[in-house]
Amino acid sequence: DGARVVVVGSFNVDHVWTVAALPRPGETLSGHYHTGPGGKGFNQATAAARAGATTTFVCALGDDLGGQLARALATADGIDLRDHASEAPTGTAGIYVDHDGRNSIVIGPGANADLGADFVQTQQAAIAKAHVVLAQLESPLPAVEAAFAAARAAGVRTVLNPAPADALAPASLLGLADVITPNETEFCAQLARHAGERLDAATLVAHDDDTLHALCRRLLPQGTVVITLGAAGCFVSHAPGRLHGDARTHYRVAAAHVQPQDTTGAGDAFNGALSASWARNPTAAFADHLHYANRYAALSTERAGAAASMPHDADVRARFD
Ligand code: RIB
Ligand code: NA
Repeated sequence: DGARVVVVGSFNVDHVWTVAALPRPGETLSGHYHTGPGGKGFNQATAAARAGATTTFVCALGDDLGGQLARALATADGIDLRDHASEAPTGTAGIYVDHDGRNSIVIGPGANADLGADFVQTQQAAIAKAHVVLAQLESPLPAVEAAFAAARAAGVRTVLNPAPADALAPASLLGLADVITPNETEFCAQLARHAGERLDAATLVAHDDDTLHALCRRLLPQGTVVITLGAAGCFVSHAPGRLHGDARTHYRVAAAHVQPQDTTGAGDAFNGALSASWARNPTAAFADHLHYANRYAALSTERAGAAASMPHDADVRARFD
């Protein structure tokens, strides 16, 4: 059944208000409201599935309307859902988006906080059959570590999206990642923690490629680092000898040109599409997968919502090929 991706992560019901400016303390505003499926894990699983991978999603859900929504949507997208039944409510996120596209997000982890290493270990057979295992930091670290340990034991590739930025991956987890995919802010946060190097995102993006490569090597000496740069595409740095079909140790891949409407979940789109593409063709040059992930993520920003905005593989090819 072709390319197989296992995603371990969160599901949230997103409540989104679009406002002229983000609310300040004591302020009452009104804005356009919509709700829809989200959570970094589910967004990435939806992207992997719609990008063409046979996708399993390991998560925790409550016994409520949010849980029912997750099940219905997983079925519609052909996602093999492996959910731990939690007594807590299904995860939620409150998101304010201003007219410049900046956002403020509050997460109620709910059931997501109950995803444990023990439940992930019951999914070992699916993990061992996968081509790529993908996880984020919106779920408990022991669950993510258990997934990556099972993947490593079976020789399965691992992709860690170290998001959100305030969640820090321990060295033990980084050591189990073949590829990490931070954005600028997340890269700076992990670098401060693991290499004691304090940089802000603006300083980071002003660095030349050789300097960025050296910083990436300090953060993940044995693996590949992909720094996602929004409309500027991405920068990739490989460990010596782990070039994944590329002759170059480091390079940039430009983003596709689109008219963004809503960038919520764009990073998730990139991660799901990258994992699906890598799973589909493990021996292709890594740059080809990054190129596809950039296009896929760009297209997702032309649509409103998080998981709901993920395009299908055919849409990506029709738009850009
Ligand atoms: O990455 C976007 C996601 O972050 C949203 O869907 C929200 O649920 C938060 O998890
Ligand atoms: Na979107």
